[in-house]
This record gives sequence, C-alpha cells and structure tokens, in this order.
Amino acid sequence: MKKLQTILTEKMSAAFEAAGYDASYGLVRLSDRPDLCEFQCNGAMAGAKKYHKAPFMIAEETVRKAEELFGKDVMEITVVRPGFININVAPAFLAAHTAEIGEDPNLSIPQTDAPKKILIDYGGPNVAKPLHVGHLRSAVIGESIKRILRASGHEVLGDVHLGDWGLQMGLIIYEMSLRKPELPYFAENVPEDAYPEEAPFTLAELEEIYPFASGRSKTDEDYKAKAMEATHELQQGRPGYRALWKKIMELSIADLKKNYARLDVSFDLWKGESDVQPYIPPMVERLKSEGYAHYDQGALVIDVAEPTDKNEIPPCMVLKSDGASLYNTTDLATIVERMELFNPDEIIYVVDKRQSLYFTQVFRAARKAKLVGEDTELIHVGFGTMNGRDGKPFKTRQGGVMRLETLLNEINEGMVRKIRENKNVRDEDAETTAETVSLSAIKYGDLSNQAAKDYVFDTEKFTAFEGNTGPYILYTIVRIKSILKKAEETGISFENAALLPPAAPEEKALMLDIAGFGGAVEEAASELAPHKICAFIYAAANDFNRFYHETRILSETDEAKKASYLRLLDITKNVLEKSIDMLGFSAPDHM
Ligand code: ARG
Repeated sequence: MKKLQTILTEKMSAAFEAAGYDASYGLVRLSDRPDLCEFQCNGAMAGAKKYHKAPFMIAEETVRKAEELFGKDVMEITVVRPGFININVAPAFLAAHTAEIGEDPNLSIPQTDAPKKILIDYGGPNVAKPLHVGHLRSAVIGESIKRILRASGHEVLGDVHLGDWGLQMGLIIYEMSLRKPELPYFAENVPEDAYPEEAPFTLAELEEIYPFASGRSKTDEDYKAKAMEATHELQQGRPGYRALWKKIMELSIADLKKNYARLDVSFDLWKGESDVQPYIPPMVERLKSEGYAHYDQGALVIDVAEPTDKNEIPPCMVLKSDGASLYNTTDLATIVERMELFNPDEIIYVVDKRQSLYFTQVFRAARKAKLVGEDTELIHVGFGTMNGRDGKPFKTRQGGVMRLETLLNEINEGMVRKIRENKNVRDEDAETTAETVSLSAIKYGDLSNQAAKDYVFDTEKFTAFEGNTGPYILYTIVRIKSILKKAEETGISFENAALLPPAAPEEKALMLDIAGFGGAVEEAASELAPHKICAFIYAAANDFNRFYHETRILSETDEAKKASYLRLLDITKNVLEKSIDMLGFSAPDHM
C-alpha cells in the first residue's frame, strides 16, 4: 500500500502539473513546523526562479487547482507568504488510511519489488571462549537488521561465523595434553573408535582452561610455541586433535546456542572459519596464477590501495611469511564459499567498527581478485563500543571482562524484584516476565543508539519503566493489551469497527504516527539502521499515552466512538508489536 506522504505528493504533483508547472515541485514532506501544520510543500518556492514568478502566485494557482481536482477530501491546504504550502490531512482521509494500514498484512511496511538474497554475518563468537559483553552488540544489531530486511520482503540468511580455527584451539589442545595426557587424543596411531563418545571434560573445565592457557602463553614463549604447533597440527588434520576439536566444538556450540536463545537471536547457518579451510589452497593458487597476489618480504599480499585514498590502506595479507593463513585468508575464503553456496546479492558484516580498515582491505581484495560477484555488495556495519557509566569499555565491578551470562543474570535479578513489587504479575510468572522485560531493556538500550556510536550501558536507565527505554515501550503495549482484554471480556467487538475521523488532536497525532510507520521501516531497511525504528516507537508510544490520558475509552457512552477507539488501540498495538519484533524482543501480557 502507498505511504500517506506518497499519496499527498502524488496529489500535489498533479495540482502543480494542472497549474502548468513541473510535477516534481509537488514533493510533500513532514512539516518542520509541526505547530503550524502536519506536512509542507515548498515547490512554489523552488519553482519561482525557473518560472520567473512570485512563489506566492505559483502556490495560489496550484492550491486552486488542487481544490478543483480533489476538493478538501484529502487535505486542507493553506498558502503562507512568501509561498509556502502548509498541509493538514483531512481527518476522515487519515482515519480511512489508518484503517487500511490495520488491514494490510504488512501493516504498511513497503515490500520490495526486487527481493534480494542477503547474507548477514553476525555474532562472531569464538569457540571455547565464553560469550562476553563484546559479543552482545553484534548479536543484537545483526538480529534486528535481519528481521527488518525480512519484513521488507528480502530473503535473508544469518550466519554466526564461528571463530573455531585459531590459536585458541591450539592453546586448549596443548593445555589439555598437559593436564590429561592419558586421553587417547594425544597418543600416536590410535584407531578411530578409541575416541570417547562423550567428551572427557566439561564446559566449565574448558572455560577455565582457555583463559589459563591464554595467560600463560603471554609470558611463556616455549608454551606459546607449543600451542602454535598444536594449532598447526590441528589445521593439518592430525586425527587425535581433530577428534578433540570436534568434542570442544560440540560442548561449546551447545552452550552458545543456549546463550543466543536466551537473547532471542537465531542463526540459519552455524558455519565457521574451519568450514572454509578447503577453499584456501585453490584460492591461493588462483590469486597467484592470475597475478592478483604477490610476495612481499616473504608474505603473500594483495595491493588494495587506491589513488583517491586519503589514508594509507596497507596491502591485504593472504599468507604470512611462514606460509600460515590468517584471519584475512579465512574471510576471503568465506566469500568464495558464500558465492559458491548462496550467490548472495549482499553480504553484510555486523562487526566492531575497529575492524573497519580490515574490512576495507578484505573487501577490496575480494573485489580486485574477482572472488566476489560483480553485483554482490559487501557491507560492513561497524558498531561502537559498549561503555560503562565511567565512559570506559564495560567491565565487571572487579574490572574484568564481563560474561554475557553474568550481565543477563544481573539485570534479570533486578527486574524480578521490580516486577514482584509491581504486583501486576502472578508470582509464578515473575521470572519469565522479568526475562522478557530485561531483554527489551538490553536490546532497546543498545538499538536506540546509532550503531556506529559508542554508548553507555546504564543498567538503571535502561531498565526504568519510564523514559526512552524498552520497558516503557513494553509497558505501553501491555496497557493497550489490558484495555483490549477488558473490552473483549465485556463483549465489545471492535475488530471490524469503523474508524471514525479523529476528533481530538492527540487522537490525530497517534494516527499520523501510525501513518509514518511504513516510511520509518523503509528508512531503517535502506540505511540498516534499527535506531530509526526505535525513534518511531518512542514517538508513537508517547502519543499513545497522551491519547490514553486524554480520552475516556472504555467508559465512552457513544458505542461507535468507543469501538473506533478500541480499533485504533488494536492497530497501535499491532504496529508496536511488529516494531519490537523487528528489534528482536516481544511483550508480555502483564508487567
Ligand atoms: N570472531 C571474530 C572476533 O571475535 C569476529 C568475526 C566477525 N566476522 C567476520 N567475518 N570476520 O573478533
């Protein structure tokens, strides 16, 4: 369905044309003086130069034509000196438009007429290292972008892109060989079936081993060399190490899945760096034989600098001087694999913005060496750092890196207390409700900021039931749900009720918000910017609450009016719920 603004623009364009001017002057935008009018058209001002005519005259002629063409059914127009056209939507037209949004299965979200196949690379956890707060943003932003693009009609695949092939694996394997040398993984010439079915270690052990080994490797050269050797042997396919690696993967992935499920984040693909290893040798061969890569001080590199660069872009390294592959190699090979398996139109990487130079190098190298299709876009959505209230990267109270689980638990505990105090929720539901509300606090707190910016994770602020927060949005939805429930219980039907023209300004404001929903999602999708949806929701929730405070809804005695209010509430609820779904959370029934 058409956006309200598009309808207004088409009407005004027709009027300009009928008055003998170019249709393009009919562009209608949101008013930047909402105290004066809802929309504005500055075409007469723009046309004055071209037509050597006073803008006021152009505006007057156009408005007269507009009235001839469509009277006052769609909008009320006034001309203001020196030639501005101020527009207010006709209440009946707005009500009909709002009702149409309510009936549209997509609630007016514009559906693309050229659906793309898009792969989103997000999450990026590293196997055997617990998820920490640094992984939160990628998961939250990536999940939202995925949902926004899907809602717009694109085919989207999310890939977790596990870090499962690096030095951390060698560190764990080597440390394990010191602690449990009796395990069959370390012996030579063991038959395949000698490896245990069940992992002979626990996740807790793994999570203790990794930081220990990592710490030791930083001070002990020999230890580090052994770990690197183990990494190399794993990568060369040493059977025992491969078997051990598989067990580590199983345990770790099960735990990652549990954690992501708690965040309501889900991936279509659980691929990782290890999956693309077979692609590396043929890719390297091609890069060499086709002359894209050359040796520089022993390392194989692809030059990616361009004459227009303001800052120096160093070459993209494909192989280190000892012949080992690295992060870049894996990412290039992953592009090859993705082209082969999915042939996507876009690959979006939701990764810390500190990796932006890195992605510039990788993207240019892939493009130059034709690893990526000519029409395939590579996009890095770089996000800023999540800081604590002291403005420094978020840490535990003891100053360590905070595990994601710990953060979730802490927020949840506080929320359970709040919910119990509120007494709107049955005691046995308090825990699940708190989980839902906590998630909204975390996700909305993150997503309401522009992704590229650093932001302060302020638990107190994010979990407040008032202000621009997730819980406030949920509270608003819960309020609507409870009114609608009461209406249903008293047998009032509103589902097919006629939506009456808004009488009060706050009712009109709410309808105008709803009319802007499609445009907000369209912008969020084209700019990959979930914060645009947050801005939409916050305005709509505020306007709803204003309407709610100014209006007697259930106690309204005019039945048609009451039904119309309830219908408006229902549409508002659907639009808000669709919005939060695109942000990756949902609303409880009570809170
Ligand atoms: N595992 C990486 C890290 O922890 C993030 C991976 C991001 N994705 C990618 N294709 N490079 O930094």
